[in-house]
Amino acid sequence: MTNDPYAAAAPLIAPSILSADFAKLGDEIADVDRGGADFLHLDVMDGHFVPNISFGPVVVRATRRVSAAFLDVHLMIANPLRYAEPFLKAGADGLTFHVEVASDVAATAQEMRSLGVKHVGVTLNPATAVETLWPALDYVDHVLIMSVVPGFSGQSFMPEVLPKCEAVKARLRPEQRLEIDGGIKPDNIRQARDAGVDWFVVASAIFDRPDRAAAIRELRDRLG
Ligand code: DX5
Ligand code: ZN
Repeated sequence: MTNDPYAAAAPLIAPSILSADFAKLGDEIADVDRGGADFLHLDVMDGHFVPNISFGPVVVRATRRVSAAFLDVHLMIANPLRYAEPFLKAGADGLTFHVEVASDVAATAQEMRSLGVKHVGVTLNPATAVETLWPALDYVDHVLIMSVVPGFSGQSFMPEVLPKCEAVKARLRPEQRLEIDGGIKPDNIRQARDAGVDWFVVASAIFDRPDRAAAIRELRDRLG
């Protein structure tokens, strides 16, 4: 795995630990590391912004203890600025906030950075218009396109978000990255790549399989 996915050549595959077995999280992380994962995606859910509750800084810290990989923390929470510091202290490398909870997306991205976040990401739900991202683009390192309604792993990919990927990619600077999250499987990863996606978040299509190396290989094979 890498601790600098911006420097690594795309495409990259980021397992989301949301579908891991939390009773043996260290083993699960070692398994996807050996299996060829590039970095780790951590889904934080607060039960307000999304209908599910997942985990907070404690699990980020536990992950940090067992992995030197880049920890890409996706904040599905109502108040990302309030919790930026605890997540950073726990070892997060990147923090991604949702436009739906920001009254001023450019200001929120800048405040994240002033709080010490080295890698700031912005994301939006499938129902949110892509134009809401535009004011933030000057201030972020990556953009995450949600390809399911966030809250749960194991949902079906929504191909209708692919035009959003193309629209964002056309506006990104070369050093910025485009990420996708939700329902990514061997049968749709190529479509997303063709729409400009650099980083692929995958939970169930890796962790629900007994052989994680085979699962990651199948995803990479489709990328060509
Ligand atoms: C969605 C989360 C995703 C999710 C992906 O609420 O943000 O990261 O865990 O899960 P899969 O890959 O199973 O759709
Ligand atoms: Zn996510």
